[in-house]
Amino acid sequence: QADEAFVTLATNDSYAKGAMVLGQSLRNHNTTRKLVALVGPHVAEPCRDALQSIFDEVRLVDIMDSGDTAHLTLMKRPDLGVTLTKLHCWTLTHYSKCVFMDADTMVLSNVDELFEREELSAAPDPGWPDCFNSGVFVFRPSNETHEKLLEFCNETGSFDGGDQGVLNSFFNTWATADISKHLPFIYNLSTVSIYSYLPAFKQYGHDAKVVHFLGKVKPWNLAYDAQRGEVKGHSSSPDVYQLHPDYLLMWWQLYSKEVLPLLQRAYGDTPFNSGCVEEGEEVSRDRSRLDLAEQPAPITAPPPQVSSEERKQRWEAGQMDYMGEDSFDNIERKLDSFLK
Ligand code: UDP
Ligand code: GLC
Ligand code: MN
Repeated sequence: QADEAFVTLATNDSYAKGAMVLGQSLRNHNTTRKLVALVGPHVAEPCRDALQSIFDEVRLVDIMDSGDTAHLTLMKRPDLGVTLTKLHCWTLTHYSKCVFMDADTMVLSNVDELFEREELSAAPDPGWPDCFNSGVFVFRPSNETHEKLLEFCNETGSFDGGDQGVLNSFFNTWATADISKHLPFIYNLSTVSIYSYLPAFKQYGHDAKVVHFLGKVKPWNLAYDAQRGEVKGHSSSPDVYQLHPDYLLMWWQLYSKEVLPLLQRAYGDTPFNSGCVEEGEEVSRDRSRLDLAEQPAPITAPPPQVSSEERKQRWEAGQMDYMGEDSFDNIERKLDSFLK
């Protein structure tokens, strides 16, 4: 069992919070397996420190990005090209078997029995059930498979621009060959499915073992009033209704009780986006613009002035100031000025 691990991925500080909640949820349910977080170079040092205190291993990986805007736009998720970075998980060859879990998943009970399954086991995707969802899957690390996957990416590309497209084309007999590789849906319950088939959720939902906050809006895009125990910033986007309120609250409770103290310790006096608001504090309009709030921030200190060259460099490094200079309003204004 020491050579088996749960693996997740975070390329930025927002997803890192998700990874921390996932890791902590696995710990709380007494997993006997190792925990590994793959992180990109943009994850801030204190976030890595906090990850270190939950995970056995925090491993730095290169970002792989499909840059395939055409397919990603089709999926309405321009941000998901970087999910190809997930493929690095096959290089963890010091483990014989692993379970990959997206950073936007959370376990509700012990799921160590997943290690009884073989590569590639996964649950159906709620949007196209003949495809598996790559938010939770069992795999065997192997440099050979890793190389084949990269080769496959280069030659065939990904039909959705992200890892799920590649993996479904690569493991293309999943739907038909071996039913034991179909994980029950309770190991990857997408919150979107709750609403698309509510009676089934009423019937089977209490058996759920893993919830997956699949979709554009993630729990960390909202805010939390810890005193009142309320999640805020609800009504501004229809996407938010796809997050089941009970699971959403569970995520925030776990975050505020067990993860936030680790972040506070790691950041010390440096201000950071905790996601929590004070009692009665209004969530600002910008913060509730969920579709843009990749890294929503209650701005604690005024952002330093940077030159336009420096801004360009930050933009190219993927560090957009969505809430300030690079806000959607500013981009729209610029575009309008060109289109006139
Ligand atoms: N991910 C990441 N940074 C990003 C986007 C995605 O680290 O900017 C990782 C993270 O582990 C995430 C997974 O890739 O859970 C898949 O993306 P996401 O969960 O947003 O896709 P969805 O499940 O909503 O389709
Ligand atoms: C999906 C999966 C996610 C994957 C993305 C891109 O919807 O939930 O894990 O990264 O598609 O392929
Ligand atoms: Mn996901």
